[in-house]
Amino acid sequence: MKPPLVIANWKMHGTRAEAENLARRIHNGMKDLRHVEVAIAPPFTALATVADVLRGGEIQLVAQNVHWEEEGAFTGEISPKMLRETGCTFVLIGHSERRHLFDENDQMVSKKMSALLRADLLPILCVGETLRERKKGMTRNVISRQLRAALKGVSKNAIEKITVAYEPVWAIGTGLTATPDETSHAHRWIRKVMTRLFGSTKAMRCRILYGGSVRPENAAELARASEVNGLLVGGASLKAGDFLRIVSQFV
Ligand code: PGA
Repeated sequence: MKPPLVIANWKMHGTRAEAENLARRIHNGMKDLRHVEVAIAPPFTALATVADVLRGGEIQLVAQNVHWEEEGAFTGEISPKMLRETGCTFVLIGHSERRHLFDENDQMVSKKMSALLRADLLPILCVGETLRERKKGMTRNVISRQLRAALKGVSKNAIEKITVAYEPVWAIGTGLTATPDETSHAHRWIRKVMTRLFGSTKAMRCRILYGGSVRPENAAELARASEVNGLLVGGASLKAGDFLRIVSQFV
């Protein structure tokens, strides 16, 4: 298994100057990265700035979204090639804010998945159920549907390039966190679906992160929960000190 991965998702926060400052503080505050991988997802406008700060170091750059075409008349969109050129290693796809606020569906996520793998970028596939779906007992169905749709057509050899992030929609930005038990349950289910699709050796190589109101106060128990291979951190990654404390749970 690869080392755990902790990602800072800054969403739509920060000017370039603010991003530079925050990236520098995280970069300088990071001490021992032997046991954990760390990555930062700034807004598109700050990618190049943050890439400069991180250059030569071990923290990797993540894009928050991508379009599946290489180029063309797609106003407002950014292609995989453009992200690679900016220095991105990873790209988030299927984030619940994209699915729920911008109507992205499973087919679009699947096209993004294929485009990223073609471009040699590493997809972070986000999946997760809404509160309504959880209450109706549909958590497993929703996760399976999202995984199967996004991974359709992905070859066995490509599977280890993919990271899955379990982000229950009801826990994102709400202050509600899935308990370590709820998290482990969902992660075990994700692993099971991946095993059915690609076999256990391949499925075991794929990291499964948890995301949703991760804070320095709850990071330790989430980091120790079984089947948790890292964290995707939104709000708490906007304060260097908080993010560094979260990362330190894996060191
Ligand atoms: P949050 O966001 O930590 O602010 O809940 C997590 C995410 O959406 O990636």
